[in-house]
Amino acid sequence: MSERPLRILFALTEAAPLAKVGGLADVAGSLPQALLRRGHDVRLIMPRYASIPAEQYPILGNGLAVPIMGRQEPASLRQATLNGGVPVYLVDNAMYFQRQQVYGEPDDLERFTFFSQSVLEALKQVGWQPDIVHGHDWHVGLVIALMAWGRATGSPSSLCGTVFTIHNLAYQGWFDGLYASRAGLTPLLPSSPPLGSLMALGIYHADVVSTVSPTYAREILTPQYGEGLDPLLRSRQERLHGIINGLDYSLFDPASDARIPAGYDASTIERKALNKAALQKRMKLAQSLGTPLLGMVGRLAGQKGLDILPQAVEPLLAAGKVQIVLLGSGEPQFRPPLEALSARYPDRVANVFAFDLEIAQWIYAGADMFLMPSRYEPCGLGQLIAMRYGTIPVVRRTGGLADSVPDAGPDLGQGTGFAFDEYTPGALQGALERAVAAYAQPKAWHGLQRRAMAADYSWEASAAQYERMYRTALSLARPGAQVP
Ligand code: GLC
Repeated sequence: MSERPLRILFALTEAAPLAKVGGLADVAGSLPQALLRRGHDVRLIMPRYASIPAEQYPILGNGLAVPIMGRQEPASLRQATLNGGVPVYLVDNAMYFQRQQVYGEPDDLERFTFFSQSVLEALKQVGWQPDIVHGHDWHVGLVIALMAWGRATGSPSSLCGTVFTIHNLAYQGWFDGLYASRAGLTPLLPSSPPLGSLMALGIYHADVVSTVSPTYAREILTPQYGEGLDPLLRSRQERLHGIINGLDYSLFDPASDARIPAGYDASTIERKALNKAALQKRMKLAQSLGTPLLGMVGRLAGQKGLDILPQAVEPLLAAGKVQIVLLGSGEPQFRPPLEALSARYPDRVANVFAFDLEIAQWIYAGADMFLMPSRYEPCGLGQLIAMRYGTIPVVRRTGGLADSVPDAGPDLGQGTGFAFDEYTPGALQGALERAVAAYAQPKAWHGLQRRAMAADYSWEASAAQYERMYRTALSLARPGAQVP
């Protein structure tokens, strides 16, 4: 590398395998390694949740005294290491983080305000000065704002560039005026525009803002996808980047995946049928190899297209054209329509309402098609995994799905999947009918599978783009100074 390596601190709230709720954890568990391989000094900081055993991770230095809601709250710092050797600082405080869940506690706003404040205290303590502080999602928007404030007030530990990455604009960490004054946020709020969420604070104060696909970066500038922040995002449009997430191909490789019944690669794709048979058996579906099996894996959330799915698949199920396996946990209101389908077609529909990494892999390996009819999708990981496993994605053309799943086209001679535009059951049904018709043409179908398996969404290219973005952030943070 001709330019000098950078010191980069990732501030975030989940990282696989330490704690995982959604796709953010996969990014945090793989992008830092890719940057490390490029020669950078990358470290993470995150809370130590109850699910992360304290005894395994030694305490670093003296305790921290973290300013929160007008008092000082003690915390300690523990050190862990991610696969590949990325150091992780764990902020340990029982009152805020010894809880059942990562998110969803009534005081989440205060918990992550505390965590954000603790990041600045931790930096002072470890005596390591990053060039870049890279915050992810609303939980750490305040870290970015505090760095900007520190820079403006001459604090030496704040002399670095900041990058704020949006993984999902729908969750923002909203606060009111009372909270802002109790939590000491008032000095960080500009007189205009009005900022009412920690997400907005991060976007407003960052040297560079990014999101996880080029299409989502464009979509969030519009009222339809902007979640109320599109005016703010438009005002920062010149600083907004879209970089598609990669996939850690060492973790997701059908040839070496020990979790699936039968390993395979592109040259032994016929062995995929063993996985299909095993999945049909495990899910108590009819043992029919010739029927296309649709898989879906994801959080049960409004974003994921679960309100258009039942109506779209019903006609195909009634005609005996498909089987469906769905795995997901999340918001309970999405279950009844899916349960009604499995009650009506018990040998064609199986729902597993759980978070189960093994069943997820069985679906990626055993299904023929992978459903992601998302209303919006900042990037999406499932379609990338599915393609790696020769499972053909059926997606709505939005966000990262639009960027990663080119359509097979009318003669099936191109692309890696099937995409539709309108967010309606009819449009999804249309894409599914096209996929089912293609499945009946083995030669064309194998061509699709080969192209999907050969598509390269490893982290290498995206990590190089992050690196360039970090250097941009540095040049913007220190106008006139030499960019390293
Ligand atoms: C969020 C988004 C998802 C994205 C992930 C990682 O979970 O909903 O689309 O892939 O973050 O960036």
